[in-house]
Amino acid sequence: MERNLGMDLVRATEAAALRSGRWMGRGDKIRADQAAVDAMRYALDSVPMDGVVVIGEGEKDEAPMLYVGERVGAGEGPEMDVAVDPVEGTTLLAEGMPGAIAVIAMAERGALYNWQGIAYMDKLAVGERAKGVIDINAPVAYNVRAVARTLGKQIEDVTVVVLDRPRHKDLIKEIRETGARIKLILHGDVSAGIMTAIENPPADILMGIGGAPEAVITAAALKCLGGEMQCKVWPRNDEERAQIEALQLDVNKIFTTRDLVKGENVYIAATGITAGEFLRGTEYFGGGARTHSVVMRSRSGTVRYIDATHRWDKLMRISNMPYG
Ligand code: FBP
Repeated sequence: MERNLGMDLVRATEAAALRSGRWMGRGDKIRADQAAVDAMRYALDSVPMDGVVVIGEGEKDEAPMLYVGERVGAGEGPEMDVAVDPVEGTTLLAEGMPGAIAVIAMAERGALYNWQGIAYMDKLAVGERAKGVIDINAPVAYNVRAVARTLGKQIEDVTVVVLDRPRHKDLIKEIRETGARIKLILHGDVSAGIMTAIENPPADILMGIGGAPEAVITAAALKCLGGEMQCKVWPRNDEERAQIEALQLDVNKIFTTRDLVKGENVYIAATGITAGEFLRGTEYFGGGARTHSVVMRSRSGTVRYIDATHRWDKLMRISNMPYG
């Protein structure tokens, strides 16, 4: 049976969560993120693949590890694209708020869309049952009604999740006018997008503008879960408009799930750092910790939730990471 690399990847998200979870609520985003990056980078080296980071911590000169273009993995094995977000929701973690996760998406070489520095995307995402009925160019009310109809719900029972940002003032107003429920989140639209597609979803639609790299990671998860994502680039200013033009990108182009993630062998691994609706947080006890993770693979359609207990003394015997 072909090896499920997701089971190897999850050790890297667990390591990131175990190390960065210690920074919960300590008000230091940089050190919290660094702890996750160090641990994830170290753990990725034992994954049997020839990986290249396509979404990471930035360019080589600004990110010493997990920079875009960095080779990761043991070197032998399938050639893969790797998108990492060692802490998705750095502010949530630094402020001790719910919903920070460590996440990695992976697919065949060339499969993950490379954003080339574009910061933001307008996003629309739904789970499998609402796939095929949404249109990012249509009015908000159209999409809310279409999702309500296909889910067999009253509009008042549809939940739309949106990042709480001033730029979403009109969007929030339009959603409210439909009568739908809104879940406003402070950060973390990867978890929010994934939540539309899990069993008993706490939200039905993700709408609004968020990070472009996060869009690719969300699309990878939705590909595993059978959901759908549509995005459009969202330039913040003239400089970004010029950048988009230079890249010969059309601001009106709709990026579908398939545009964002072309591959057919897509993996996602994620571990909760602070407790959230999607994953429980990392909990520490004397001598170790417990993590809660999910591993998905598009080819097999498997979605595995993993509760793991980690003991520092044993972990340190098999790795160089100073866990205890
Ligand atoms: P970080 O973990 O990098 O801080 O990103 C958190 C996040 O909330 C993402 O989930 C989201 O896509 C993006 O930031 C939104 O950006 P902004 O906070 O600039 O609106």
